[in-house]
Amino acid sequence: MRDNIVFSEQAKELAAKAREIAEKYVRPSCAKYDQLQEYNWDAARAVAQAGLFKTFVPKEYGGHGAGVLALAMVTEELAKADSGFGVAFAVNALGSFPIILGGTEEQKQKWLPQIARGEKFVAFCLSEKFAGSDAGGLSVTAVEDGDHYVICGEKKWTTNGGVADIYSVFCVTDPTSKSRRISALVVEKGTPGFSVKKIENKMGIRTVPVVETHFDHVRVPKSNLIGGRPGMGFKHAMMTLDCARPGVAAQAVGAAQGALDLALVYANRRRQFDAPISSFQMVQKMLADMAMKTEAARWLVYSAAAQIDAGRTDGVTKYAAMAKCFATDTAMEVATDAVQIFGGYGFMEDYPIAKCFRDAKILQIYEGTNQIQRLVIARNLIKEANELAHLEAYVPQESQQSYSDAPAKTGAPARA
Ligand code: CAA
Repeated sequence: MRDNIVFSEQAKELAAKAREIAEKYVRPSCAKYDQLQEYNWDAARAVAQAGLFKTFVPKEYGGHGAGVLALAMVTEELAKADSGFGVAFAVNALGSFPIILGGTEEQKQKWLPQIARGEKFVAFCLSEKFAGSDAGGLSVTAVEDGDHYVICGEKKWTTNGGVADIYSVFCVTDPTSKSRRISALVVEKGTPGFSVKKIENKMGIRTVPVVETHFDHVRVPKSNLIGGRPGMGFKHAMMTLDCARPGVAAQAVGAAQGALDLALVYANRRRQFDAPISSFQMVQKMLADMAMKTEAARWLVYSAAAQIDAGRTDGVTKYAAMAKCFATDTAMEVATDAVQIFGGYGFMEDYPIAKCFRDAKILQIYEGTNQIQRLVIARNLIKEANELAHLEAYVPQESQQSYSDAPAKTGAPARA
């Protein structure tokens, strides 16, 4: 499936290590962590020891500089065993991208090597109670006070909150500005006034904490302002999401593959009417559709990630959104069909398939709902349509009164 032409040896090695850790430390205990809603520290330590947090950190700062494609491949392998652990890993990249993409040299030197070594975990604080899809509508403020910013307010749905040591926090620094309203600041765990107030009780991905983070006059030095210039926060958030969405999409591919694998094993084993249910055409159709969609999602994700790694600037936002939207819709569909194949057993919590179903739903919601992804895709398509001016003559014109005014069906258009 993964040939030498597309993937670097390094990316394949990292993915192989992730697969090994997933089978040894993630899959066997994922039901326990799901039930207890606890973080899998053993697996996280194994990931750190194997150097997998280095995947997304540039070489100059102690990482492998392996890029977004390698990040996607590692995430997919971890998510195949447990979607929740997949995001527990990938969210570190999401939280680090503002520093990687927008940070000053000093900030990169300070935080990235610790992240690469797996000594410090990271979280991304953008969403608030009243600002989810409308990421520009934030209310958490950061006010200048001498050499510091003072942060006040609450963030919602901070994935990895409590576990993370470093938080990229998006705050309003200039309420009067439309386009330069927001700045991102790094807040470290233990800073006075910073606390985790509510650990959410979730439907799925229960191994990774999702919390409210509260900022009660949290003083952070101005040197923690990402990029050193106020007003760049919204751009940094959007650039971050462009790079991180293929990661969450890879989590979805892993989740879909994980559910499909279980469904295949069960369909071969389960016998009804004196035959394995995998011999029935209606089940075969489901399996075939699940496999086709998962494979299509995988290659859309790899393509988006590879384009980011190639340094493409045009179209990356659109491809990242397409990958996120398609792969996460696929994961939900595949998990739903997998439960159907498991029948009554699929509805029970005795087997991991019910968890696959519960874990899948959030994929269509976080890192931008799939409605927002479709909006982003459509906005970009409409902009790109300017490059299709040579087709103008082939579509009906406003001045065209009737069918007989239309150009001939073939050959040069009448108004060309
Ligand atoms: N890269 C760089 N800059 C970008 C950009 C991008 N991809 N997209 C937009 N911008 C810039 C624009 O150029 C514009 O700049 P100027 O002001 O200088 O002109 C500015 O940002 C505003 O852009 P828009 O007018 O497009 O902004 P908007 O408000 O209309 O829409 C949106 C933006 C796409 C809807 C955005 O708000 C969005 O992505 N919302 C979803 C938020 C989201 O994904 N949240 C996820 C939270 S993280 C999470 O869930 C993770 C987790 O828990 C695991």
